[in-house]
Amino acid sequence: MENTIFIKKPLEIKDNIPLFSVDKYWGKSPESVLLSGLKIIDEQGWKEFNRYYAGKLDFTDDQSRADWRFNVPVDKNFMVLDTGAGMGRITLPLAKVVKRVVAFDASLSRMQFLQRRLKEEGLNNVDLLVADFFDLPLADASFDLIVMNGVLEWVGKTNFFKDPQAAQLASLKICLRLLKPGGYLYIGIENRWALSYLRGFDHSGLRYTGYMPRFLASWYCQLRGRGKYDTYTYSRSGYEKLITQAGFTKENIQFFLPYPGYNVPRIVVPYGNLNILQYLIVYLMSARGQKRKLIQFLARFDIFLWLYRLLFFSFNIIIKK
Ligand SMILES: C[S@@+](CC[C@H](N)C(=O)[O-])C[C@H]1O[C@@H](n2cnc3c(N)ncnc32)[C@H](O)[C@@H]1O
Repeated sequence: MENTIFIKKPLEIKDNIPLFSVDKYWGKSPESVLLSGLKIIDEQGWKEFNRYYAGKLDFTDDQSRADWRFNVPVDKNFMVLDTGAGMGRITLPLAKVVKRVVAFDASLSRMQFLQRRLKEEGLNNVDLLVADFFDLPLADASFDLIVMNGVLEWVGKTNFFKDPQAAQLASLKICLRLLKPGGYLYIGIENRWALSYLRGFDHSGLRYTGYMPRFLASWYCQLRGRGKYDTYTYSRSGYEKLITQAGFTKENIQFFLPYPGYNVPRIVVPYGNLNILQYLIVYLMSARGQKRKLIQFLARFDIFLWLYRLLFFSFNIIIKK
């Protein structure tokens, strides 16, 4: 462990993982499912775990979630911070190609799962911490790359701030502080105006809340017994505004359109390149169904591509300090 980057002592250590904050679970399945999965890994091994738990937890062996890294000049000397690392789907592939990864999450059980995955893969260049984004034990200017994949939209749930946007802004300022000069921040996140939210659920667990004015979304969420609306997403320009407000330079922000989405970035289109977007729609996306055929036809027109881009599902955002 490169101790120089740690500036606080942990509250306690459990399962060899230092806790700098109280353990707070977040996950798509109940924590009891993950805990029984951990028991199976320890007592019966990965084969049994995979037999019973594949698909139940938000983890797969597919490590392409970090493929956006090809747009960052990542090298083997990089020090990386994976924020809200969860089950480690970004930590694992990055640890294979950089010097060291510090991965933190508010949840101990998620870090325990990642600890076992790292052991299974024979990776020993990762420091795991249970820590809160807003109370990190890390020294300034320590990292070449900071990752916020599926995290910026959740940090508003903190008790440190009343206003979700203030929390998001603060998290970006923390990243700016922790980056070395010339370092990179990566953000993977949904587009507030994504067309797919017409069919799917927003982070609130309800439909359409992302499209609503914030006060209305909050009112609606409370009416439906979900507490206040605190999982803000933004448009491309909204993210740009937030990131520059945090102190990054506008010229150093690059947006990409990941297809099919930021968690599976199989094809990554630079935001400004309509030709590549057209190629993606016409030649690479499935052409089955009348709706798809119509979209392929419309993709001949720049005005359609421009509109399509505004309603794209999600963004990869790469920002240089
Ligand atoms: C959607 S998951 C993303 C996990 C991972 N980055 C990935 O791409 O697979 C969000 C994660 O952020 C963590 N998280 C949210 N707010 C946090 C905070 N304030 N401090 C630490 N972790 C936090 C949650 O515990 C959860 O594991």
